[in-house]
Amino acid sequence: MWKFEKSSKAVFFEKVIGKQMPVAGNLFQNKSRICMALGMPKNCSTEALNERVGSALKNPITPETVENSLVKQVILRGEEARLEKFPIPTFFEGDAGSYITAGACIVRHLNGSMNMGIYRIQVLDGKRLAIHASPRSDLYRIFLKKETEGSETLETAIAIGVEPATIFAAILKPLPGVSEFNVAGALKGEPIKITECETVDLMVPCEAEIVLEGEIRLKEKISEGPFGEIGGYYGTSISPVMEITAIYYRKQPIFHVILPGPSSEHFTLINLANIGIKKSVLKKLKEKFSSVKDLNLVWSPSTGTMMKLIISLENKGSDIEPREILETVFNLKVREMTVGSFVKQVVVVDEDVNIYDSSEVEWAVNTRTPNEKRIIVIPNFQSWNNDYAAEDGCSVRFGIDATKSLNKRKKFEKVQIPKY
Ligand SMILES: Cc1cc2nc3c(=O)[nH]c(=O)nc-3n(C[C@H](O)[C@H](O)[C@H](O)COP(=O)(O)O)c2cc1C
Repeated sequence: MWKFEKSSKAVFFEKVIGKQMPVAGNLFQNKSRICMALGMPKNCSTEALNERVGSALKNPITPETVENSLVKQVILRGEEARLEKFPIPTFFEGDAGSYITAGACIVRHLNGSMNMGIYRIQVLDGKRLAIHASPRSDLYRIFLKKETEGSETLETAIAIGVEPATIFAAILKPLPGVSEFNVAGALKGEPIKITECETVDLMVPCEAEIVLEGEIRLKEKISEGPFGEIGGYYGTSISPVMEITAIYYRKQPIFHVILPGPSSEHFTLINLANIGIKKSVLKKLKEKFSSVKDLNLVWSPSTGTMMKLIISLENKGSDIEPREILETVFNLKVREMTVGSFVKQVVVVDEDVNIYDSSEVEWAVNTRTPNEKRIIVIPNFQSWNNDYAAEDGCSVRFGIDATKSLNKRKKFEKVQIPKY
């Protein structure tokens, strides 16, 4: 999978040693794939995809409940419901074991609706799993609330091999009270089909290849991991254990795998959830600085778990305006977080620099930054929990003004290839 993710190829492992089921992976490692999966043109623009996702979040579609589903062609319950037959991979040398990475995990939200998310799920043995809910997930909040209410268990279903719109919706953050099932329908353009579970009071998407059902034992916590995380390091957590009560699947199921760790696929998928953040940072900046034209929030294998923000200006008001923008942006608030809690570096460029091309941005930094007055360094900025560099929760932030000085516009005119 690592070999082919760089060449943008999907992989299908037909014969997995010792297992009967094939494995499919590398399905969503770039924007084109996401667009194609949603029936959009392969080369559709970032703006068009953002628009589609934004509109799905605003116009959810109620799912359709059906009785018969292909995912129930083979049903195993009780002792028969075990994981050994599934081709669940181990990804990194230091991982604690095999992990399910493309399981849409469904629990009942505190308001009773279906909450769905993709989480790393460690296989502890044939009957037990550990689901890692990060402190920013709804699942984590559901765990906490249920525990404080004194609940011992939480019913859960994990759907593997669901249709693309369902995977994408599971990663998005719907408006409060809206189920990810409804966002999946809106992304797809028609209601997704769901069916009742066998041993728990939940609904699952019918298009799944495989469903695992069970109970999370909220008080039975184990040390989950180590597991190769998105930032490129191993991570562990304390997570509750899930005991499997039933497994069902199609007659010839395909086991879907999302490449975890610092893969393009992992970043491409989680960036879907960043569309709203990008929009609100841009709106807030434009309200304060009329010269702000656009921005790109970069979260990729090269940025790790802290993001990089590139801001482009059109006709900056003065030579000190970019510095004022840098001093402001880290402290702006979105979704109850400061921008600086998840952004490590900010670069301000002129409108002639393509903010989606990292080499053009680097070119601007290297050719247009004359002195240290163009750089700001903020020590001890409060980080989110994902910052590996943080000490006591804080780390340094950098801002670079790579715009052309107003009196040097002619000198910094970019060479142009003649139009003919
Ligand atoms: C491959 C992959 C792995 C992920 N692993 C986790 C994880 O282990 N824990 C977590 O909380 N979020 C993880 N996420 C992000 C969540 O899917 C995302 O934040 C989702 O909105 C969580 O849903 P919730 O807020 O309804 O709980 C992962 C995303 C992807 C694409």
